Amino acid sequence: MTAYIGTATSRVDGRDKVTGAATYAAEYNAPNLAFASVVTSTIAKGRIVRIDSSEAMKVGGVIAVLTHENRPAMADNDEAYKDDVAPEGSPFRPLYDNRILFSGQPIALVLAEASETARFAASLVRVDYDEQPHVTDVYRARDDAFALDVPAKPRGDAAKAFAAADVRHDAEYFIPIEHHNPMEPYASTVRWDGGGKLTVYDKTQGVQNVQHYICGIFGMKPQDVRVMSPFVGGAFGSGLRPQYQVVLAVLAARALERSVRVVLTRQQMYGLGYRPAMIQKIRLGARADGTLDAITHDAITVTSQFEDFHRHETTWSGLLYSSATAAYAHKLARLDLATSCDMRGPSATTGVHALECAIDELAVALQLDPLELRLRCYSDRDQTSGLPYSSKNLRECYRQGAEAFGWDKRNPVPRAMRDGSELVGWGIATGVWEALQVPISVRITLSANGHAEISCATSDIGTGTYTIMAQVAADVLGLPLDSIDIRLGDSTLPQSPVEGGSWIAASVSNGIVTTGDAIREELLRLAQNIPGSPIAGTQPGDVTLAGGMIVNRKDARRRVSIADAMRHGGVDRIAQEKTTNFPNDGAHAHNTHSAIFAEVKVDEQLGIVRVTRIVSAVAAGRILNPKTAHSQIMGGVVWGIGVALLEETLIDHHFGRIMNANIAEYHVPVNADVHDIQVIFVDEQDDIVNPLGIKGLGEIGIVGVSAAIANAVYHATGKRVRDLPITLDKLFN
Ligand code: MOS
Repeated sequence: MTAYIGTATSRVDGRDKVTGAATYAAEYNAPNLAFASVVTSTIAKGRIVRIDSSEAMKVGGVIAVLTHENRPAMADNDEAYKDDVAPEGSPFRPLYDNRILFSGQPIALVLAEASETARFAASLVRVDYDEQPHVTDVYRARDDAFALDVPAKPRGDAAKAFAAADVRHDAEYFIPIEHHNPMEPYASTVRWDGGGKLTVYDKTQGVQNVQHYICGIFGMKPQDVRVMSPFVGGAFGSGLRPQYQVVLAVLAARALERSVRVVLTRQQMYGLGYRPAMIQKIRLGARADGTLDAITHDAITVTSQFEDFHRHETTWSGLLYSSATAAYAHKLARLDLATSCDMRGPSATTGVHALECAIDELAVALQLDPLELRLRCYSDRDQTSGLPYSSKNLRECYRQGAEAFGWDKRNPVPRAMRDGSELVGWGIATGVWEALQVPISVRITLSANGHAEISCATSDIGTGTYTIMAQVAADVLGLPLDSIDIRLGDSTLPQSPVEGGSWIAASVSNGIVTTGDAIREELLRLAQNIPGSPIAGTQPGDVTLAGGMIVNRKDARRRVSIADAMRHGGVDRIAQEKTTNFPNDGAHAHNTHSAIFAEVKVDEQLGIVRVTRIVSAVAAGRILNPKTAHSQIMGGVVWGIGVALLEETLIDHHFGRIMNANIAEYHVPVNADVHDIQVIFVDEQDDIVNPLGIKGLGEIGIVGVSAAIANAVYHATGKRVRDLPITLDKLFN
């Protein structure tokens, strides 16, 4: 059943993407389309005393300026604004009232016959504020941070074990706020379909989430709001929750009774969610032989004043390594900013960074090779739950990664390796992520001519979902890849949660198998209804679909063509829709792992760090498509370079305003920053996690990369930089 599964397959949507045939949210057209531009607040906290749109309204082509004073009705209770993945708290409501909760908050929407007109007119909206004191600095807010419940139970007495340890490491690590910069901006085109019905083309990771959300806010019926997002230009968590522009676009379409497009500028995208800044304190206590006796992980992360977004940053530390004791503490600090949000590898990109830097520092203190220390603390069980893994081949990641990298040639002494005028450093880190899966529904429609349509309301956020769905369906139905059409990104299709957490590949693939089983059974019934059927008496479990035939597995000569079975049954197509659940057996932990080896070259005179080589060895169950999987991991590694060396949202705390809200001054890795990246997938057969043994790959690629680089910088320079990003000023002193 694996002609396509496991085969390097080019993206089935690749041609559409590179030729421009793939259409994104801001590219849909509609007759009589109005264009909108958002006006945002310039203060971080306070109230709007007066908002004057009169100059903007005088500009030719301006249709309307919507503010909290003249907008149409919206729901007035918190519940209505809770999307499927909303955290605790009171969700932000754009244009709701005169309160200012963060700088960059939308406060008016200018609608015009052309986007340039709207944008110019937006610059003429005058606002007077009653300003109040704000806090945007985590170091000022940390004393007021409040404690969160950590789901992992502590084990043993970590404080006592730490105090009694032969060798101790105790340090604080800092990661700044980072903002999402997907290629596709946040955008919505709302088509007014008449009679109050809307089609919403939105940049989102979850069309049905947006549909529920819009229905809640505007009291609309689901059948009157269709949300579409067939292509997404990168999202990485930024599209898990609906963004405010979709509310503004629907609000305006209802006010004008015409189609409306709202596109945020790159600068305005900094007024939405971000990776929370994090202050982490890690304490490790070990015996002289490297046995870990104590791990404590204390963290402070940040959110807005109105919602409590957080993940479980500290718990990775207790899970990964064998340690007799572990303890965690997590506090949340409120800032006058938008609510923080998920961003690729949320909680692990930051939490595992600190742990993996700390392990490296402990290895130095123990005078042990950092790979050897990790092997001595290796655990075949989830240390928190005590459960064995459904599969864990991290040991092989270490082995194959080290071999490919040449780790055994490492001189352990810092500053000992050079290449001409540059210092060379080699670092290692471990990555870990969850293998999650979610209930999902899939419909398969199979035609007598051997064509199949697979549909599900999931997204393809650039990860390759279209392609892996087609591969799995082709194998399940025994058809060639080009006989499969995939439909997704449409709220009218069978139920799917948001695409995030690396859970869709496993979920939708196994979902296709479930629905494929139902299709096969129906075909068998049809085939057995033929008088003198060659597969009479064959049980459903003994039949397979191959080459357009229904075939008895045990005797391949007993077969009926799908076309004949349908023709005899008087149907030209059959359709099945099934929901797949993933019950947890409660007896296993499900995780993916990686070992990352990094080489940096540092020019000490200039303070410049180049990441010249990375080997990432990944154990993530069955790899559906080595080609798209490789891209996922490579993208994560590139982003890890950004986390380590470049990404940092800089806030002027006097104004409570982001200073580098653009991709000229907010740095991300560009081609010149990316050198040799090698991705290795180690074999990891998993018969427990789900029938296909798939674990998901979206997030694991980034986790640990920044630590491997930071550890390599230490090895090159002898300088331990504990606050990211590692910029040249930090290397000079
Ligand atoms: Mo995931 S945080 O949606 O990349």
